[in-house]
Amino acid sequence: MPVKIVVGSQWGDEGKGKIIDVLSESMDLVIRYQGGANAGHTVCIGEDKYVLHLLPSGILRPGVKCIIGGGVVLDPEAFRDELDFLESVGFDYQNRLMISPRTHVIFPYHKMLDKLSETGKGKEQIGTTGRGIGPAYTDKYSRVGLRAVDLINDDIRNQRLKEIISQKNFLIEKYYNSRPIELDEILKTGEMYAEIIRPFVNETVEMINQFIQKRKNILLEGAQGALLDIDFGSYPYVTSSHTISGGGTIGSGVPVTAVNGVTGVMKAYLTRVGNGPFPTEEDNPTGQKLRDIGAEYGATTGRPRRCGWLDLVAARYSVQINGITDLALTKLDVLDQFDKIYVCTSYLHNNNSINTFPADQTILSEIEPVYEELPGWNESINSIRTFDGLPVKTKNYIKYIEDFCSVPVKYISVGHRREEIIIK
Ligand code: GDP
Ligand code: IMO
Ligand code: MG
Repeated sequence: MPVKIVVGSQWGDEGKGKIIDVLSESMDLVIRYQGGANAGHTVCIGEDKYVLHLLPSGILRPGVKCIIGGGVVLDPEAFRDELDFLESVGFDYQNRLMISPRTHVIFPYHKMLDKLSETGKGKEQIGTTGRGIGPAYTDKYSRVGLRAVDLINDDIRNQRLKEIISQKNFLIEKYYNSRPIELDEILKTGEMYAEIIRPFVNETVEMINQFIQKRKNILLEGAQGALLDIDFGSYPYVTSSHTISGGGTIGSGVPVTAVNGVTGVMKAYLTRVGNGPFPTEEDNPTGQKLRDIGAEYGATTGRPRRCGWLDLVAARYSVQINGITDLALTKLDVLDQFDKIYVCTSYLHNNNSINTFPADQTILSEIEPVYEELPGWNESINSIRTFDGLPVKTKNYIKYIEDFCSVPVKYISVGHRREEIIIK
């Protein structure tokens, strides 16, 4: 399968990092296609844990080439910190990491505006990661962003930053009543950012097409999840990018016709970080039990994740909008200690049954989940490595998901480590 897209099928943190690391073993190229350092993708190798925010997860597999695609918004400081970290733990990334010249750059004023905008929203806050994601995409679409190729050109960078800063200061002073940005300071920051990324900025289109022609294996790495997608997610409580598989082609430059499959990563239950509706949330001891066993704390911000049962209505919606061809079911081991497991199979709103994920946020926040109760297996599955070796009740849980979503579960993750995986 030469080109595969891996997407989060829920509200992020499904275990994409783990699955992408497993799949990267047989990949030649891994491309991150959207989002920025709001992502936190965890890969556990032996006792060592690596959390990647901007770098494609394939970077932990020696020899695999990696691209930060044009659909990403890149914070050069976060990028440098990750490279420093990789070096400190002995990973060699030289000559196999590239940044698309079309990638937009995040500046400190994006992070500042992210925070000011959140504060301004009061109780209606989205609960962003504060990484400047929304303001950077806003600038991109308003056509006042700086791309990597512009950043490394001294004349263009300085000229554009002067124009941008006068616009931003108008907003910051007049609208947010806050302290203006010093132009000299931001020009120096721009120079420093250019030095950080210059060695990595390279045209990627030709190379990607050569890989496609030679039928090399390419993985497009999604960040966040379908329910956080700017168009299809629980708007406005979403991120600002196209997280679904369609974003994979736009954000990487891999043509749509080259894609052969989409793996949807799905946690065996559900979590969400930040605000917004979450019909199956268990804001009670059950949710706390899921959080404790699943260690559900944000890989980027450390925030406790909201936890609840698997929402199959949302899952089926996600399969449809992503064109998911197979699922990677993760964190199944977290359910080992539950006597009964619940899955949401429809919603109730004003006594009406709803079978699709609603676009209307008022309805989404008011609906009551209708659950199917399934028996727990009450034993540890962590050391099992074959599908046949799983308890019958675990297999039944998997089958229930497959039947409901009309898509096969191909990968079953039974622990956080690289080798704790079953391939069906
Ligand atoms: P991502 O953003 O989708 O890459 O997911 P995160 O890395 O933010 O969160 C997933 C968390 O679950 C990480 O701490 C992983 O190490 C962990 N994890 C991944 N797969 C499994 C699994 O099958 N079982 C358990 N117990 N933990 C897992
Ligand atoms: P990974 O790739 C979970 C959430 C934030 C907030 C909303 C908007 O690790 O799955 P933003 O900073 O993007 O403007 O925040 O999106 N969010 C994530 N939630 N996992 C992520 O990434 C997320 N990235 C952003 O919590 O609700
Ligand atoms: Mg994460």
